[in-house]
Amino acid sequence: MLSRRQFVQSLLAFALLPKQLLQAKGFLSPNAFKVPPLELGSRSGKNVYFDLNIQSGKSAILPNRLTPTLGINQSFLGVTLRANKGDRVHIKVKNNYQKTSTLHWHGAKLPAKADGGPHQPIKPNSTWLSEFDIIQPAATLWYHSHQMHETGLQVYHGLAGMFIVDDDESKRLDLPSDYGVDDFPVIIQDKDFNQDGSFKYISDFREKLMGKKGETILVNGVINPVLKATKSLIRLRLLNGSNARTYHLNFDDGRMFNIIASDGGLLEKPEMVHSIKLAPAERAEILVDVSDGKMPILRHKMHMKKSANRMSGMMMMQQAQGKKLEFDIFQIDASGVSGPSKKIPKNLVKHDNPSAQLISNKRIFKLQMQMGPQLAFGAVMGSKDLLKINGNTMDINRIDEVVKAGSVELWEIENTSMMEHPFHIHNVQFKIVSRRGKIKGHELGFKDVVLVRPHETVQVLIEFPKFSDSKTPYMYHCHILEHEDRGMMGQFVVV
Ligand code: C2O
Ligand code: CU
Ligand code: CU
Repeated sequence: MLSRRQFVQSLLAFALLPKQLLQAKGFLSPNAFKVPPLELGSRSGKNVYFDLNIQSGKSAILPNRLTPTLGINQSFLGVTLRANKGDRVHIKVKNNYQKTSTLHWHGAKLPAKADGGPHQPIKPNSTWLSEFDIIQPAATLWYHSHQMHETGLQVYHGLAGMFIVDDDESKRLDLPSDYGVDDFPVIIQDKDFNQDGSFKYISDFREKLMGKKGETILVNGVINPVLKATKSLIRLRLLNGSNARTYHLNFDDGRMFNIIASDGGLLEKPEMVHSIKLAPAERAEILVDVSDGKMPILRHKMHMKKSANRMSGMMMMQQAQGKKLEFDIFQIDASGVSGPSKKIPKNLVKHDNPSAQLISNKRIFKLQMQMGPQLAFGAVMGSKDLLKINGNTMDINRIDEVVKAGSVELWEIENTSMMEHPFHIHNVQFKIVSRRGKIKGHELGFKDVVLVRPHETVQVLIEFPKFSDSKTPYMYHCHILEHEDRGMMGQFVVV
């Protein structure tokens, strides 16, 4: 338990600035864990109707100051949508924000017209209807703005939420699945603030080039909250909703946990680990046993040996600039928990893997970033074409790739730059088949984002869903939102 002195200290720290709070390691934060409201829509048989409102508002994130924010059906961030495999969802999105926006269903297999990418903009005061059948298994998907050149800004201010898909198989497994009781969304984001409480988005060309990273961590919109556990086995649906930061998540007491799902749904069996690396847009579901009644802190901290090796280039630069490399994310207070925890099933689901024998095409995507000596000159900084895929920056009028519906392809993503890029493909859930080192942990599951390390080549095997539309493209891009906004994105149609 927390001593009185510690408690007073934590209050004092909180009265200053979030930065100070973060430096005060191990403190119990006075902030309660917030669970985004659940939105089940209105149901008529298999048809589920959702009414969403993109809105702006003011949110109490810092003490004594309000932050102008964006949200979906609330002032900051989105409500959690939940539906089943086999449902047909009808999502009406009204834009009550004064700028054009979109809502993209990240991770969903769906017709291109329903995707919510840059080709489905919603003007202020207008409405967009997205309708699709959920044809994929239970998974933690998410949704966010995908407005051309503005995705970074809009997501940073709050246009992001979780989209949970359930199915019969996942229900049969008896995993913790009581929303807000033993099953929690954990949307992790990093922000910077101005003195007046407003979010501080990009402030220099460095952030524009490397992506926006903040020094205050929010979980579901709350600074370093404490989750009061009432059950001894809890499921966390981790979503890295940050613009650019990759997290190495582990507990301060070194406890192990089980990864049960990746971006695209449940793994074949739980993977017991000490830590998990989560790049922007990646999700993982984990089971944490807190039957010991302790107060573990989930934090972002690189393994010592690893960080010593990796302490090159980018990280040294960051550290030299006084940037923090470690953060507490949130704390679980399990002091009220009693009794042994639920049994974790040995096997989860069987994967229907795309067959390598059926590969009909191989494509190569070179992720390119012009860096090096040019960086010393301000003139190059502002230029738009520093970030490319296969020599091109994104052009909304150019179709880069044409894919056959229902086909199996091998996509090879080569990172020619010196920083990591999380590569994302719309409309698919792929399997990683080769990369530098062993494929393990959540990367054994179905994925829609894969982190490609500097000078690494990753191969993914994709079976494209059967939707076809020669006119409306899907996107593939780096999910560092500032990279996406500046052109590290391409378009494919499925015919
Ligand atoms: Cu999460 Cu193209 O998006
Ligand atoms: Cu997406
Ligand atoms: Cu990138």
